[in-house]
Amino acid sequence: MFKTVYFYQTLIPNLCLKTKITNNMNAEEISLEEVKVKPVVDHLNDLLANYHIHYQKLRGCHWNVKGPSFFTLHLKFEELYTAALLTIDELAERILSLGKAPYSTFNDYIKTAEIKEIQTIGLKDTLMVKAIIDDLAFLIAKEREILNITADAGDDGTNDMVNRFMQFNEKNTWMLRSFVNED
Ligand SMILES: [Fe+2]
Repeated sequence: MFKTVYFYQTLIPNLCLKTKITNNMNAEEISLEEVKVKPVVDHLNDLLANYHIHYQKLRGCHWNVKGPSFFTLHLKFEELYTAALLTIDELAERILSLGKAPYSTFNDYIKTAEIKEIQTIGLKDTLMVKAIIDDLAFLIAKEREILNITADAGDDGTNDMVNRFMQFNEKNTWMLRSFVNED
């Protein structure tokens, strides 16, 4: 009896492990080459981490903005963080569609992101806008890099998605630069 129980205890975890591996999707399931998709996934995770820091910066700006432009900027920052939240979710779910796990801890985001946190309490409104313009410039550069990598990998799905994010950031760069009067 003891031997039988022991047998199942050792067998069942192995079976579970095997099932897990079998169910673990990889890029080939959507007709992409696993080896070419690896750099795409790495860059998407990197972009995801940067978007998280950017998102929280926007929330800080939304909460702490003061002055005559309060009503304009409070709303604009909300529009931008709402868009960033959707972008974050799309990025994570694209990584999953490519068969890998998205970063999901703040520890990973802070370690990976090149965009840095800022203190928004007491920050002048125009400096908040300039900080967001800097983030967008960084995100656009990263996204442009991913467009090249996804083109090489034949990953049109990721290419389309990231292209959308980039165009949104380009348009908002124009609007925010107009707000602070920088051509
Ligand atoms: Fe709010």
